Amino acid sequence: MAEALGSNAQLAEQAFADFCSRTDLPDFDYIALHGVWSWISDENRAVIVDFLRRKLKVGDVVYVSYNTQPGWATMMPMRDLLVEHADIMGSQGQGSVSRFDSALGFAEELLATNPSYVQTNPNVSERLAKLKNHSHSYLVHEYFNRNWQPLSFSKTASLLSAAKLTFACSAYYLDHIDALNLTTEQQDLLNDIPDSLFREMELVIQAHAFANKQLPIFMVLGICF
Ligand SMILES: C[S@@+](CC[C@H](N)C(=O)[O-])C[C@H]1O[C@@H](n2cnc3c(N)ncnc32)[C@H](O)[C@@H]1O
Repeated sequence: MAEALGSNAQLAEQAFADFCSRTDLPDFDYIALHGVWSWISDENRAVIVDFLRRKLKVGDVVYVSYNTQPGWATMMPMRDLLVEHADIMGSQGQGSVSRFDSALGFAEELLATNPSYVQTNPNVSERLAKLKNHSHSYLVHEYFNRNWQPLSFSKTASLLSAAKLTFACSAYYLDHIDALNLTTEQQDLLNDIPDSLFREMELVIQAHAFANKQLPIFMVLGICF
């Protein structure tokens, strides 16, 4: 692929544990983790943090995108239901996409009975309907992996601090325009918070949890100190 693009990128198809223990890799100025952080086990997050700690110098930058806990919290019971249905009710030779389709059909029947889960979390039906618009093979790959963990901003910040990384800013340009994302009351509340990490945690809750974000994902840049 790199050759076809005329790029000198070097591609490696390796598990993180194998890649991160290689002795032939240089230090890096910039490391990007796109679609990784929420989709791996705690053990692999630790492997990556250790790699970042060893391979970055002061001032270097890391990009991390991850699924936010405030954005996905209400959907977690639904995700568990779909996964369990696919595991228990699906048949072996059915294939993962087909098992997911059956699980989705069951979830719709369940929601039609107006269970108390939906009464407490009324946006669940709409969220499920929106998810259905994505290709089902994408959804299986994205949300029905063995590991999928929406993380709070504070947990991500805390894990990355072990690699001497501190939050720099959102990597999504529009996040920087408060007027687009927040009401004036929300902006006032944020402006009264002096601590930048706590401010960001509050911002993720306010702006990333529900506001127009069908798939709440937060992209951050961390800087090595
Ligand atoms: C949600 S997908 C994202 C794929 C791609 N980064 C993207 O954004 O389109 C998560 C990826 O993490 C990979 N993955 C999970 N655990 C891994 C591990 N221990 N070592 C290497 N890759 C892993 C999976 O193979 C999967 O391709």
